[in-house]
Order: sequence, then C-alpha cells, then structure tokens
Amino acid sequence: MKNPHELIEKNVGLLTILILVAISFGALAQILPLMFQQQTLEPVKGLRPYTALEMEGRDIYIREGCVGCHSQMIRPFRAETERYGHYSVAGESVWERPFLWGSKRTGPDLARVGGRYSDEWHRVHLINPRHVVPESNMPGYPWLAENKLTGKDIAKKMSVHRSLGMPYTDEDIEGAKAAVKGKTEMEALIAYLQSLGTHLK
Ligand code: HEC
Repeated sequence: MKNPHELIEKNVGLLTILILVAISFGALAQILPLMFQQQTLEPVKGLRPYTALEMEGRDIYIREGCVGCHSQMIRPFRAETERYGHYSVAGESVWERPFLWGSKRTGPDLARVGGRYSDEWHRVHLINPRHVVPESNMPGYPWLAENKLTGKDIAKKMSVHRSLGMPYTDEDIEGAKAAVKGKTEMEALIAYLQSLGTHLK
C-alpha cells in the first residue's frame, strides 16, 4: 500500500485543503475561547452608552479619518501605561461597532484622552493644531465649527446600536434629534473625545 504521506505530498489540491484545516485549528483555539469568556463580553463597571451628541461625534471621527493617525488601544506595556494611563481592556469596547482601535500612530493614542484637556483646548487644536502645539503635523478641521448637525439620522442610528446591544432606552432615542439639532460638528466631536476612556482610570 502507498504511504498516505506520499499521496498528500503529490496532490497539491489535497495538500492545500489539509494545510487550511491545520491552520484553522490554530486560529480557532485562539479565538473561540474569547467568544465565551465573560471578561471579554461584559461591559466594564460604569460603562455607559454614548449620548446622542457623542454618537454623532464618533461618526465625524470616522468620516474625517482620525483613525488613520490615532489608535484607541493602550497596550499593557510600561512605556504606554505611563504615558496614556491604564491599558485598554476588552470590556470597554463591547459596544463599539465598528471598533476604532486602529493600528497607526502618527499622533498619540486617544483611548483615554477624555478629560485630559478642556473643551476650549480641543476647539483651538481642531481648528489649527499649530495654535497649541507648534510642531504638530496634524491637519486642521476648521469646517467642523461651521457645519451644523440636523439630527436627521440619529434616532435610526441609535436604534441600530440598540439592536446590537447598546442599552438605550426609548426616551434616549426619542429625545436624540432634539439633543443634537443645531449643534456644530465641532461640539459633537469634542463631546465624543471627552467621553473616551473615562470609565476606567
Ligand atoms: C495626519 C495625521 C493626523 C490626523 C489625520 C489626525 N491627527 Fe490628531 N494628532 C496628530 C499628531 C501628530 C498629534 C500630536 C501633535 C498635536 O497635539 O497636535 C495629534 C494630536 C491629537 C490630539 C491630542 C492628543 C494628546 O494626547 O495630546 C487629539 C485630541 C487629536 N489629535 C484628535 C484628532 C482628531 C479628532 C482627528 C480627526 C478629526 C485627528 N486628530 C486627525 C496627527 C493626526
């Protein structure tokens, strides 16, 4: 009888399939337990859903591509925790869809930027970063101060997030439009930034 090894080694199709099976076992062994571990599924104590204004700000953060230069993921290394604060934990991201952990740090990590600066600092910085950090190469976003929110889609957005697990109440969703209408995009983005990472210090 032929050695089965020989059979596999001489058949590229079969070899490819078996390699894929072998690799996926490795991946499954890493990923599956995480999907059932309480620690990675439960929100950290004190985590609250974004307010309507913060939720709008988050979408502006996504639209403007801030994630291309800023991560929101503090790794558990001394150099990071001394600079940014407590490392990020899974329970802080359970309601994040899509998550904005990022992988590029042209600028500093923002996972715990909430409360680090005043709203006024952010406003000046976002209009032209060089007004507060002369050597900054971050672009300015002056239009955010002029664009006004209409609140057109916010209630719909919040109910989608609720269907995915964010614990919004009916009142939150009903009041959403009124809470954001007429506010500037700048106010929304700053509200979002000020909320980041504040539940776990
Ligand atoms: C081209 C890369 C780039 C983009 C895009 C970018 N930033 Fe920055 N950001 C930087 C750099 C570099 C710094 C550090 C210098 C400074 O403070 O301006 C910074 C600093 C910051 C800080 C201060 C962080 C701290 O801890 O001091 C905040 C807040 C910030 N950026 C928010 C944003 C937001 C919000 C957006 C999207 C609207 C954005 N950035 C887009 C590069 C970028």
